[in-house]
Amino acid sequence: MQILGVDIGGSGIKGAVVDSVTGELTSERIRIPTPQPATPQAVSETVAEISRQLKWNGLIGCGFPAAIQQGVARTAANIDDSWLNCNVQDTLQKATGLPCYVANDADVAGLAEMRFGAGKNYQGTVFMVTIGTGLGTALFVNGQLVPNTELGHLLDHKGREWEHRASDFARKNDDLSWDKWAERFNQYLTHLEQLFWPDVFILGGGASKKFDKFADAISVNAPVVTAESLNQAGIIGAAVFAQLAQKSVDMTQLPS
Ligand code: BGC
Repeated sequence: MQILGVDIGGSGIKGAVVDSVTGELTSERIRIPTPQPATPQAVSETVAEISRQLKWNGLIGCGFPAAIQQGVARTAANIDDSWLNCNVQDTLQKATGLPCYVANDADVAGLAEMRFGAGKNYQGTVFMVTIGTGLGTALFVNGQLVPNTELGHLLDHKGREWEHRASDFARKNDDLSWDKWAERFNQYLTHLEQLFWPDVFILGGGASKKFDKFADAISVNAPVVTAESLNQAGIIGAAVFAQLAQKSVDMTQLPS
């Protein structure tokens, strides 16, 4: 099934048509800088523009950097405050005139990796961490997603949010060397390991492409692997999510 996958991020909004069976992109990938301020109207207009540029006329799946319940944003850590409690799904549907399904960005990136990438051979507990402007987390138990874990907001022993210390933004903002940042990131993974004891960690997001710069500093017990679809996981996973969401809606509409 062909689905337009869209990844809404703090600096860019990216989209491409995805074959949800193979996980391959079947159109060019379009990236438009995230409008500032990134209000619901400006962002949804940008998604509509991507859909127009791709001459798209079908289902849209979207990854969004917030906890999402039934299409509604419940947090606004790295996005404009005006998104809080906004129905992201409805807003995008109105702007594009097309059916849209929305879920947390790290959750959808995890879905892509579980289905097509680094997680496909793992059962048990799989923990995905996306390292970008924020720290995104996605937890899978025997292939089943536990949505909206939001563990980038976990606090360290001094009460500081890990996202503010160990994201890629924090690395740049605090002007940290890779070694210094890696020390923090390793402490964060260790914290997660002590809480969840995952069978594997999958690292995604921009910084995961630089794994060779920090792999040596990682000392958790679980194996740590990098996402196979790298920056494409958000787009591919958004399409996978839309397909799953549409199916379950259709199921509930079947006559009994
Ligand atoms: C948000 C999460 C998101 C993560 C990565 C965090 O600030 O709260 O919902 O998954 O950033 O974008």
